[in-house]
Amino acid sequence: MAELTSSKTIDLLKTLSSEAKEKISAAKLAVDVEQVRVSYFGKKGFISEVLASLKNFNAEARKEIGQVSNQVREELESLLSQKKAELETRELDQKLLKDQLDPTAPGVFYPRGELHPIRKVLREAVQIFEKAGLTPAYGPEVEYENYCFDKLNFKPGHAARDMQATFFVKNQGTERLVLRTHTSPVQVRILLKAAQNNFELPIRVQIPGRVYRVDDDSTHAPMFHQIEGLAVDRTATMGDLRAVLDYFFRNFFDEKTKIRFRPSFFPFTEPSAEVDASCVFCKGSGCKVCKQSGWLEVAGAGLVHPEVFDLCGWDSKSVQGWAFGLGIERLAMLKLGIPDLRLFFENRLSFLRAAQK
Ligand code: DAH
Repeated sequence: MAELTSSKTIDLLKTLSSEAKEKISAAKLAVDVEQVRVSYFGKKGFISEVLASLKNFNAEARKEIGQVSNQVREELESLLSQKKAELETRELDQKLLKDQLDPTAPGVFYPRGELHPIRKVLREAVQIFEKAGLTPAYGPEVEYENYCFDKLNFKPGHAARDMQATFFVKNQGTERLVLRTHTSPVQVRILLKAAQNNFELPIRVQIPGRVYRVDDDSTHAPMFHQIEGLAVDRTATMGDLRAVLDYFFRNFFDEKTKIRFRPSFFPFTEPSAEVDASCVFCKGSGCKVCKQSGWLEVAGAGLVHPEVFDLCGWDSKSVQGWAFGLGIERLAMLKLGIPDLRLFFENRLSFLRAAQK
């Protein structure tokens, strides 16, 4: 541009200026305005290039051109920012209008979760036992083998120990750990603790919780739930035990439910009983579910074995206790009329919804 005279350059600046004004007024969006600014005043912009060539003029010409270019710049800058502000305001208004909340529009429906049927049945059972005076107590699911078996009077190599197919967990030092196969080891924990606590009596607890066995078919799952009952005092009788279970089953099934005790064996009770409830389906007259017997096996129970008291640091001559254990899944199947235990664990929503009482 060295050959340009100052008047040509000034004309050029004016042409560029009027061209820019047209573009500014034609801009539809704030970003268009910004683009105009860059194309005239940016590093490689038209006006910037003209000004870069000023060094080729003499001082007087530079002064003249400089004055005009300052004017042009001021005018354009103010038009650019005006237009930009105007368009930004309009764009914001349009966006607000579009995003306007419509309070009459239908709401978004979020399906509400429910407790799992097993959890519901467990809670209901806990509530009934609470009314019978048993306070909930808890223990760990990863348990010392010693508490799960030895202190419950399962002798090493005792046949009863094989009755339970056990998940073994990595040892902790010399302690052998298992996933508890029943809630009974919490009896041990409670007896040990009470022994430390000056043998405080009475003990009246229920122990709800998960248990684990290597087992998997239509009536057995590798994980299931039990509730354990334990009452300890100077005296405790099979009569008390029976009254509590009688109360429980009448409330859990229905008022007409009867129970009976059959002699049985558990290492940690003496005497031991298998508890049957009158069949909830045929009311005792005999059907397929109860195999025509009219009775359903629903719990194990008995008086705490003196050996268990002694192993837990008590004097078995001065104390008595009763205990029971029942399986929640089995009770839930009977109560909800569900034939296959595995349904509870497949998480099929249609089943879970239908199983809600
Ligand atoms: N722990 C036993 C089991 O899982 C159930 C049981 C039977 C618990 C008799 C008791 C009891 O407390 O007295 O097979």
